[in-house]
Amino acid sequence: MTRKLIIIASATVTSLVAIAALAQQQDHDASAEGLTVLGEPVTMEEIAVGRQLYAESCASCHGANLEGQADWKRRLDNGRMPAPPHDETGHTWHHSDQDLFTITKNGVEAVVPGYESDMPAFEGTLDDAEIRAVLAYIKSTWPERQRTFQAKVTANDEDRS
Ligand code: HEC
Repeated sequence: MTRKLIIIASATVTSLVAIAALAQQQDHDASAEGLTVLGEPVTMEEIAVGRQLYAESCASCHGANLEGQADWKRRLDNGRMPAPPHDETGHTWHHSDQDLFTITKNGVEAVVPGYESDMPAFEGTLDDAEIRAVLAYIKSTWPERQRTFQAKVTANDEDRS
């Protein structure tokens, strides 16, 4: 009897694990839905590539979970700002795709002339497609509200140029 129970129990656990994995997968698929970077639709592959690049190139400052540096709103002793979060608690989603792309490629000075910052320019380290993938990954983590807001900012920015 015990043996039978164990078999049933383990079968239940296995199917629960399978269901959980499936649910996660679907969650995951939804992350690319309707998402664009610089007007081009984002793919799941791109998000996966971006996640990897983020871990290698951005996580050391912006946090493994996009949480930013501790006390990121307080200026450092050198007068510069710490790295802000890239999740919905930060302000990355206040900027248009074009600005995010330029900041990542050329540094903050490229959008705010004369501004001194610890954010490195990734030109020469990441190519344009890789920068796009990192932004796709960051954007894929945002809830609906942040996505909608940032899509409007991006559309307004396109009108301007
Ligand atoms: C050496 C640390 C460091 C690394 C590595 C780094 N950043 Fe930053 N980043 C910063 C700092 C510091 C700021 C804040 C700049 C400021 O306000 O002076 C910043 C700001 C930004 C901003 C502007 C955010 C906003 O809300 O204004 C973006 C976008 C950004 N980083 C993207 C990236 C991406 C993408 C990567 C990886 C490819 C990356 N950063 C890697 C330090 C870093």
